[in-house]
Amino acid sequence: MEHKKILIVCLGNICRSPLAQGILNAKVNHLNIEVDSAGKSNYHIGYPPDPRIIAVGLKNNIYIRKQIARSFSVNDFKVFSYIYVIDYNNHEDLILLASSIQEQLKVNYILPNQENIFDPFYGVKEGFDQCFSLLENACERIANILKK
Ligand code: 4NP
Repeated sequence: MEHKKILIVCLGNICRSPLAQGILNAKVNHLNIEVDSAGKSNYHIGYPPDPRIIAVGLKNNIYIRKQIARSFSVNDFKVFSYIYVIDYNNHEDLILLASSIQEQLKVNYILPNQENIFDPFYGVKEGFDQCFSLLENACERIANILKK
């Protein structure tokens, strides 16, 4: 299979996109597919994922503790074959940063029908479990698309 590079983007790169990276990687890492994640902001560069999202991952056999937050770079449009955003703010930001229609076309929502996964950072603990189950379904769908 052709080598594919997938990037998942959220705001901080410490909650939603690192977990999505871990889940998708577990589904496709035996294929010729690389998965990375990044944040639109620079708030948490260099930090590991939030302990609450690490814990939800562990509970579901997804290990993300060693991931390090980084900021999205316009060069990512060149490096990655597909870019998945977690919510409409990320979508808007990336569409504005793209320098061509081809780059814009690489940007898709991780959920079908342009649905959003809201930031669990300031919410209640259940938000993290809900985030896991939305991302699990999203990554299953994307893994099936990538396998085609
Ligand atoms: P994420 O969550 O985008 O899922 O990584 C966030 C975590 C922290 C902040 C924003 C989003 N923050 O503003 O500190």
